[in-house]
Amino acid sequence: MNAQIAIIGSLTDLPKNYRKEKFKSFGESFVYHGQDEVLLCLGTDKQRRTVEDIRFLGGKARKEAEKNFIDNVYMDFNSLINIWRELTEKEIVINFLEGWYLAGYSFERYKQNKNKYKSRLSILGKSYEDYQKTALTRAEAVNIARDLCNEPANKLTPQIYSEKLSSIFKNSKVEIEIIEEMNLRQAGFHAVYTVGKGSNYSPKVALLKFNNGEGSPIALVGKGVTYDSGGTNMKTGGDIAEMKMDMGGSAAVVGAVKLLADLNYSVNLIAIIPLVVNVAGGEAYLPSDLITYQNGKTVEVGNTDAEGRLILADSILYAQAMGAENIVDIATLTGSIGYALGLKIAGVFCNDESLLWELKTLGEKSGDYIWPMPLVEDYQSLLESDTADLNNMSSSAFGGAITAALFLKNFVGDRCKWIHIDMANTVRPWKREGYYGPGASGFGVRLLAEIVQCERK
Ligand code: BES
Ligand code: ZN
Ligand code: ZN
Repeated sequence: MNAQIAIIGSLTDLPKNYRKEKFKSFGESFVYHGQDEVLLCLGTDKQRRTVEDIRFLGGKARKEAEKNFIDNVYMDFNSLINIWRELTEKEIVINFLEGWYLAGYSFERYKQNKNKYKSRLSILGKSYEDYQKTALTRAEAVNIARDLCNEPANKLTPQIYSEKLSSIFKNSKVEIEIIEEMNLRQAGFHAVYTVGKGSNYSPKVALLKFNNGEGSPIALVGKGVTYDSGGTNMKTGGDIAEMKMDMGGSAAVVGAVKLLADLNYSVNLIAIIPLVVNVAGGEAYLPSDLITYQNGKTVEVGNTDAEGRLILADSILYAQAMGAENIVDIATLTGSIGYALGLKIAGVFCNDESLLWELKTLGEKSGDYIWPMPLVEDYQSLLESDTADLNNMSSSAFGGAITAALFLKNFVGDRCKWIHIDMANTVRPWKREGYYGPGASGFGVRLLAEIVQCERK
């Protein structure tokens, strides 16, 4: 069956020969059956309309089309361009298509019965080849991150992860270097070694280098815990299968590097991805263990489940040793961030507070929403240790996302601009609507690319 998409602001826009139905909210859709074709109608009435609303419509259009087994969908962008005067034609077309492509994602690798049905989209009137290409590149990068997050823990060990990186960056300008377990300490990754040594799946660090521009490198650091059982401080209760996605930060970094490389964006970029499995066992690290970092700083392990900050600290030091003056880290770091912000918006911290609202704007633009969080200096005292310079566990049950960020700040030098994103609450979509479905959201890919582009300006 074929269908045309009608973007309608209100019911009165409907062609006369179509039956009228109640049309209540933005994004609501109806399929009207005509004689030879159907009309897929999407409502667009809304007060403040954004680029994310356009992506939402693109996603919704595809899902409705596929639900109704519509083979060919014809889209005339003119109506949308006429209705949404606050956005440019380019913004409208790219973002609608991005939503359409993202909505086509499903993770069916391990299912015998795959749902192969796909609707095709054709654009009427004008050719938008370049915009189509941009939208597809963006969606593919996000889908790489979704794929990585959706893999079961036994299908994404540090070793398998590093092999996947080779295939993702094959035929690109991105160079990959893997630091194996036996070389970790020599390279300065003392905490990655310590956290990872309890698992039979040995820890590693993956470095991605995209040297495609001038100046000191921008460093992206992503938490790559391919499974987090909590270690000796074992997690109990809740859905601990979720912890296969404790590498969501690293997936965001991989997707962002892929996106920037595919766009041939002019930037000198390094990505540092610590890969570990955090489990308990005879060789696992223990509460009270001491870690001495590359800069001499000592940390007492108060809790083996606060492993993310330990391995990120190594990576942040390494980034500075590589000459980076701009560091962005992203991690599924704390359960607390979800209590603070709910499940739609991640937290962003920065050692230059004046940048926080601009960062929030980049979140809105990208569809990966973030909200400013404070680095409350007084709370540093909650990380004091009797034996070491720092404890990885706060002595307070409150403000866990803030104390985790403060822990990291101890490893950032004064010359460095540092952004920290805690995305523990957004690694899955908060609702399966628009271009989101089951599984991971792909959060952070477009946001990181946006931040890198902003830093280069
Ligand atoms: N990976 C978790 C954080 C997390 C929680 C991610 C929920 C996704 C969903 C992290 O390693 C962790 O366990 N953090 C602890 C820290 C605590 C022990 C100080 C937490 O947030 O409870
Ligand atoms: Zn943990
Ligand atoms: Zn974790």
